[in-house]
Amino acid sequence: VAGADDRLFVFPILRFKRKLGSIVEIAAGPEQRVLTTERNARRIQELVKAFPGRFSLRELRRSRRVDAATRAQLEPLLIDARQATGSMLADLYEQIGQKLPDARFVFQNHGYADPEEDFSWLKPEDAHHRYPLNLARHLLSGVTLDGRSVLDIGCGRGGTCSYVSRYFRPRMVCGMDFSANGLAFCRRVHRRPRLAFLRGDAAVLPFAGGAFDVVVNLESSHCYPARRLFFAEVHRVLKTGGVFCYADVFSQGGPDAPGAREQLTALGFTVRREQDITSPVARALELGYVDLERILRAMVSADRGNRELVESMLDGVRRIPREDYATGRAVYHSWQLVKQR
Ligand SMILES: C[S@@+](CC[C@H](N)C(=O)[O-])C[C@H]1O[C@@H](n2cnc3c(N)ncnc32)[C@H](O)[C@@H]1O
Repeated sequence: VAGADDRLFVFPILRFKRKLGSIVEIAAGPEQRVLTTERNARRIQELVKAFPGRFSLRELRRSRRVDAATRAQLEPLLIDARQATGSMLADLYEQIGQKLPDARFVFQNHGYADPEEDFSWLKPEDAHHRYPLNLARHLLSGVTLDGRSVLDIGCGRGGTCSYVSRYFRPRMVCGMDFSANGLAFCRRVHRRPRLAFLRGDAAVLPFAGGAFDVVVNLESSHCYPARRLFFAEVHRVLKTGGVFCYADVFSQGGPDAPGAREQLTALGFTVRREQDITSPVARALELGYVDLERILRAMVSADRGNRELVESMLDGVRRIPREDYATGRAVYHSWQLVKQR
């Protein structure tokens, strides 16, 4: 194929399946498998660790660190970066970032409404988005944030980063997202000390290993083409003993929550807390609708051509609790996981 050498690839998450004498079987997914010598398998393992991220085949072929035998084994295991990275909803979030500039709209998650909650801890300026903010609070509850470095992957419009930086005393908070417009919004709206926003892809995190004490990922991973690459990246950028606070919606026919749990524990995470929170999330969508509708409708403007976008967002929020959560077509899970090794 013309130009194939320039295509970007991602090192896969490899599984060293079984040993047959001195031969090792390596798998990088259901269809990608090779048999290689033990020595080569070790080299491949080291190489994958040494090069997190994307690279072109040309770079791989030129690299002095990879001998011909290792390369020949590694190449069939590589994942085309176009299938493994990026966002499946990139257009939607770019549109939201561009067409809805109002600084009051800083959360894009379904929220969390516990009937026992009295919201006595809520700052008055957060009253209009109490439920989505409460989902971030639920996800982070019991995790030490004071003095810690916190990364929010898929930070959206920065609501969680702002919450962490205003309600706690973290050492630093970094929000990262795939959407350039979303990040421009964050940089304009959330100007605070020790809070920064950066563009990046969840499958190829632009950070050194062990850079963070806490990694947050809230209602974003359903957009990723290869969730396992993302989990491995979170594991890499967390310090040993660091906490991964992870929550998302799992829809029928897609990846499921037990599968995610299995992948995470295989990487070396232990589960500190795991909950099915579908019912408080569905309740929050119902209770939060009035505030969301008021804010979104106030943003409709002919100049921005955003009426259709606002209507489709409101339509989703009306239907999801009844059509997806109540019927079991979707469930919402949250985890706190600790990096043990
Ligand atoms: C439903 S929003 C949630 C935003 C935020 N976490 C919140 O709770 O308000 C999903 C976000 O994930 C981001 N996203 C999607 N794919 C991504 C990727 N590959 N890397 C980083 N962010 C991504 C989207 O741009 C969007 O901002």
